[in-house]
Amino acid sequence: MIKAEDIDITYYKAMKEAPETDPERQYYFIAKAGELIEAREEELGRKLTACVVTFGCQMNARDSEKLLGILRAIGFETQDDENADFVIYNTCTVRDNADQRVYGRLGVLNGFKRKNPAMRIALCGCMAQDSVTVEKLRQSYRFVDLVFGTHNIYKFAELLYHMYQNEGSMLVDIWKDSDKIVELLPVQRKYDFKTGINIMFGCNKFCTYCIVPYVRGREKSRTPEDIVAEIKDYVKDGVVEIMLLGQNVNSYGKNLPEKTSFAELLKRVEDIDGLERIRFMTPYPRDMGDDVISVMKHSEKICKHLHLPLQSGSSKILKMMNRGHTKEEYLDLALKIREEIPDLAITTDIIVGFPEETHEDIEDTLDVIRKVKFDNAFTFQYSMRHGTPASKMPQVPKDIVSKHFDEVLSLVQETAREQSKRWEGQIMPALVEEVNEHDESLLTGRLSNNILVHFPAGKEMIGKIVPVYLKECKGFYYLGEMQ
Ligand code: SAH
Ligand code: SF4
Ligand code: F3S
Repeated sequence: MIKAEDIDITYYKAMKEAPETDPERQYYFIAKAGELIEAREEELGRKLTACVVTFGCQMNARDSEKLLGILRAIGFETQDDENADFVIYNTCTVRDNADQRVYGRLGVLNGFKRKNPAMRIALCGCMAQDSVTVEKLRQSYRFVDLVFGTHNIYKFAELLYHMYQNEGSMLVDIWKDSDKIVELLPVQRKYDFKTGINIMFGCNKFCTYCIVPYVRGREKSRTPEDIVAEIKDYVKDGVVEIMLLGQNVNSYGKNLPEKTSFAELLKRVEDIDGLERIRFMTPYPRDMGDDVISVMKHSEKICKHLHLPLQSGSSKILKMMNRGHTKEEYLDLALKIREEIPDLAITTDIIVGFPEETHEDIEDTLDVIRKVKFDNAFTFQYSMRHGTPASKMPQVPKDIVSKHFDEVLSLVQETAREQSKRWEGQIMPALVEEVNEHDESLLTGRLSNNILVHFPAGKEMIGKIVPVYLKECKGFYYLGEMQ
């Protein structure tokens, strides 16, 4: 793990030419960009501020920690307020409403920029990988200064340097794919005590509705050695919980020269002294082997939570989605896991309104929800993504989708409420994450099963794992008392 202050800036400042290899090349640009920023600060007579706004999934949240690490190393003061000297939108394009949110907020940024001509705006992440989006930015959002994609995020310092050199025109650098993984860049964690870490990048599954394989490229895994070394460093630095990240973690290790598996990786991570909790996102049901279930069952550290995306309960729709399993296979798997690990919470993702989905298909989805009794679920309306196979299939009219969506959502909520209640009266360890958003006298902790509990205690408990009595279930969360 590298922190901003670990880079020998003076050494790289003195260099005449950029090194060819990374990460040294990026350290060089961190130093050089730092000089540009210092000069600007002198002109303006104040520090330069930067703000990273994250849209989308845990992968993006992690990428933002990398962007913040680089910004801090360059010398920016980072803040949450978007009225800053440099704002980076790290975007998501999984559904159309994700895109729309970004376009809406870009308009607001333009307002800030008019008042602060020193302001610079960058857009990166999944939206930037789509050529139609980039064209739209070139046409109608010309105040954006820098656009880069998901494959070259490690080059952020270099791009930032060129952006400041290149005043007045939009700098665009998008790669189609890459097999390169650059280690040892600085990272600024959002929380001191927990973080996500990539175990793999990309996705090869090509579910027919999904844009992720097009914007994140092909699967590539980091080596177990790199992963374990990074986690050990974090643990030394105070981290007690890590989340292993991949679009499809069950494929972990497939492209590595030395064959390994996700179950093997979990075992190696379990052995790290001082690490208390392990989570992971996202397993792919068809590839979820008995080896992983067995490791979870016997682990002391893997949290009692499994996010197992269903997408649809109808075998017909699952086939059209290219998920590779039937309704019955999903049920067998989920019910087997319920039996093996009874105190596990199972959550899921469901898409409503996939092409040709009828009420009969929805009945199948409802049936799976009733049988598995999901502890929680994200329900999405299908969103057509151009270039995906499903975009060419017959679409379901909006009003029907909306009716089906309400039906699914209400059952999911009913089941989740019932399930959440099942822990009432127990004492469970909670990792204290923050002061409650609405009531400062309360802290918010996360249980191993991913449920939140709010309880009175002092701020100094943040980052600690403490036993909490689960006094009252309030729907999807608890009010509790520290023991
Ligand atoms: N790799 C993960 C999640 C990727 S995206 C997995 O396979 O589960 C997160 C969720 O967004 C998906 O699980 C799916 O439910 C939803 N999603 C993806 N594409 C979508 C689309 N075109 N319309 C609506 N929801 C979508
Ligand atoms: Fe998308 Fe499917 Fe890959 Fe998940 S597994 S990211 S849903 S293509
Ligand atoms: Fe969105 Fe990209 Fe994640 S499209 S869901 S941010 S991988």
